Amino acid sequence: MKNPLHTLASIRTVLSIRAVLLAGLFLIMGQACYYDNEKELYGTAVPCDTLAVSYSTEIQGIITNNCQGCHNNQSASGNLNLESTASRTANIAKILDRIGRSAGAPGVMPTSGPMSTCNINKIRAWSNQGLPTNN
Ligand code: HEC
Repeated sequence: MKNPLHTLASIRTVLSIRAVLLAGLFLIMGQACYYDNEKELYGTAVPCDTLAVSYSTEIQGIITNNCQGCHNNQSASGNLNLESTASRTANIAKILDRIGRSAGAPGVMPTSGPMSTCNINKIRAWSNQGLPTNN
């Protein structure tokens, strides 16, 4: 037969371990809710800033990384070379048309499928802001 005092002590131990585990659980749940709220607010964890788009630090990189592999001085697919700033601004209507097509639609650019909504919105914003190239 067990000593009832021992039983009481072990019940206390179990209870305090449960309290610590519960506190930890609430901490984790609290953080999960924090991230959920951020997603609800911005759509993605990282907000997409299209207010003042910079040609040199944003637009150039998007076109270089997503388009220039096929539209360059050596190989201009569709007869379109996007290596120069002048050709990017001159062809903005065609560019906006092709990057705005949905996945699987004929002629969507890049050919592998649309870029992230953020990249697309940045190019649209750049166009709406008058295609500045000195910023
Ligand atoms: C993997 C290769 C590839 C990539 C990457 C690519 N393109 Fe193209 N692009 C093509 C090919 C091939 C054509 C010609 C066929 C056609 O018109 O759909 C073309 C055609 C085009 C045209 C039509 C040109 C015209 O005068 O009618 C535009 C505009 C265009 N691409 C823009 C882009 C932009 C902007 C990107 C990046 C967001 C991009 N492309 C990325 C291969 C590519």
